[in-house]
Parts: sequence; C-alpha cells; structure tokens
Amino acid sequence: MTGAAIMSDEVFKANLQQRANVVEEFLKNYPLDNAAIPARLRQGMLYSLNAGGKRFRPALCMASAGMCGMDEKEVVPFAAAIEMIHTYSLIHDDLPAMDDDDLRRGRPSNHRAFDEATAILAGDGLLTDAFAVICDMPLPAQNVLAAARLLALAAGSTGMVGGQMLDMQLEGAKAGTLADVERMEALKTGAMIRASCVCGSVLAGASAAQQAALETYGAALGCAFQIADDILDIIGDTEKMGKPAGSDEKKGKSTYPALAGLEKSRQRARAEADTAIAALSGFTGPEADFLRAMANFAIRRAV
Ligand code: IPE
Ligand code: IPE
Ligand code: MG
Ligand code: MG
Ligand code: MG
Repeated sequence: MTGAAIMSDEVFKANLQQRANVVEEFLKNYPLDNAAIPARLRQGMLYSLNAGGKRFRPALCMASAGMCGMDEKEVVPFAAAIEMIHTYSLIHDDLPAMDDDDLRRGRPSNHRAFDEATAILAGDGLLTDAFAVICDMPLPAQNVLAAARLLALAAGSTGMVGGQMLDMQLEGAKAGTLADVERMEALKTGAMIRASCVCGSVLAGASAAQQAALETYGAALGCAFQIADDILDIIGDTEKMGKPAGSDEKKGKSTYPALAGLEKSRQRARAEADTAIAALSGFTGPEADFLRAMANFAIRRAV
C-alpha cells in the first residue's frame, strides 16, 4: 500500500450498492423500444438482468471514470451496457452445451426458467442491444467509439468468448497446464473486468498513463476475481452464492485450484490483488480508495 486510506468493508459495500442502484435504475427503464421486443424474449432478457448480481463491472467502470475526473453519472449507460454483456455471458455459460448449471443469481438459470432457445436468444439480445445503448450516449463521439471498440474486443473472440472456448477445450480431468489456465482466465474473466476499468477512463478522456494504470489494475483484478470464483466453487455455499458450488469439479474444469491446490491459489489471488492495488499508487480520492477496496474484497468475498 502507498499510505492511501483503507476503506472499511461497510463503506465499500455501501459505495458498491450506491453504484449498483444507479445502474439498476437505468436498466429498469430498459432503454430500447420495449414494445418492439417479442414478449417472451423481453421476459427472458429481464429475468436474468434484473436478478441481482454484484454489479462489480459497472461499478468498476463508474469508479474508474470518476477517478479520472468525470461525473460518474455520465457513464451510467456504458456501465449498464457492460452489465448487459456480462449477463448474456452468464446465460450462455449456464447452457447445457457449456457448464450445464441450473441455478444463477439465486434463481433457476435462464434455460431452466424458459428454454434453451429463449436463453440463447436472450443472450444474443442483451449482447447486441448493449451496443445500441452505447451508441445513444451523449458524450464526445470519439471517446464513445474508442470505448465501444475496446469493449467489443474484450467481449468477443479475442476476449471473453475466446476464453470461454479455451475453458471448454480445457474441460476434462485437469486437461491443461497452469499456463493454459492463466491464459484462459485472463481472457474469459480478465478481459471484461479490465475493459470495465479502461473504458471508464477512455470515456473520461483520461491520459495514456491513467489508462495504462487502469489496464494493469483491471487485468490483475480480473485474475484475482476468477481465482476467487474458482476457490468459492470448491469451498463456497450454494445458497449464499446463488449458483451451484461444486460445478467445476463435476465438469472436470481446469481451474487454478484444481491444478495448483487451494493454498497456492489463495497466494496467487493475493499477489494479483496486490498488483492491482500497486497500479493505483498515483491516484488519490474516494474513487481510488473504492477501487483499492474492491481488489481486497474480490479475494475475500463469500459470494
Ligand atoms: C461470475 O461473475 C462469472 C465470472 C466471471 C466469475 P460475477 O461473480 O460477477 O457474477 P454476478 O454478476 O455477481 O452474478
Ligand atoms: C465464467 O466462468 C466466466 C464467464 C465468462 C461467464 P465460470 O463458469 O467459472 O462462472 P460461474 O462460476 O459459472 O459464474
Ligand atoms: Mg464457465
Ligand atoms: Mg459457469
Ligand atoms: Mg465459476
């Protein structure tokens, strides 16, 4: 640490909740033409989108923009679009062809509540509509375009979707090496978390140095976050998490703890969180404190 203020868990959670509330308010008034969306598709999209979730990624986007001097409210549509893309990734991740999980965000997963076709289409709808939401933002077009491009790259084949492909290929009794797993987690989870931070700074018109700091922060946080998720899959509580514990073991997923064990995984998650915190050493203020607290929370969380 750099002598920066340490935010208590309580203040961190209140800060996260505040940002989640703003994003949820935006999502509640789903900004596209509702009447034009076939009712079942709309229900499917809203079912997963409005089912809670920690809203980490939109909070990261908002806090990153705020830390770079922008009024956070201005990036709310972008933050909401990130959550739409993340929610789509969860819907598809749960499908029988992928992780085949029946519980998500404390409810039957989308394909269980509806059916597989609706789940696939609800995911497609959320992903595609997210970019329409971004195009409607009343910010300088150059910044919006640059951020949209980064988000598309992070969500697509060079990012999350690419990582999900590697995840599927590494399935089956400890199929990959640790290096394979590190690459996979950097893509399937790291890319979207990194983009959430960097896009906030791009929208704020931040300097290259500020963007680079947030890139390092986000990439390290993303790794820490996925390792914590993999640890929770082993030791976490299904009810608390709102998704099934033991899913990775059941599918023979190649996760960091499956290959390296719990203790080494905890050490690596801590080291990544420290890297994330160190990347913000040049920043002060409540948003920077929130982001530092986020790195600590990401590896201590129970949900
Ligand atoms: C779950 O993400 C999928 C991973 C990348 C590990 P979150 O843990 O952020 O899920 P929600 O949004 O809170 O439901
Ligand atoms: C999924 O990782 C990452 C995504 C891109 C959705 P997991 O498969 O471990 O996520 P959970 O545990 O189902 O939330
Ligand atoms: Mg998965
Ligand atoms: Mg999964
Ligand atoms: Mg998991």
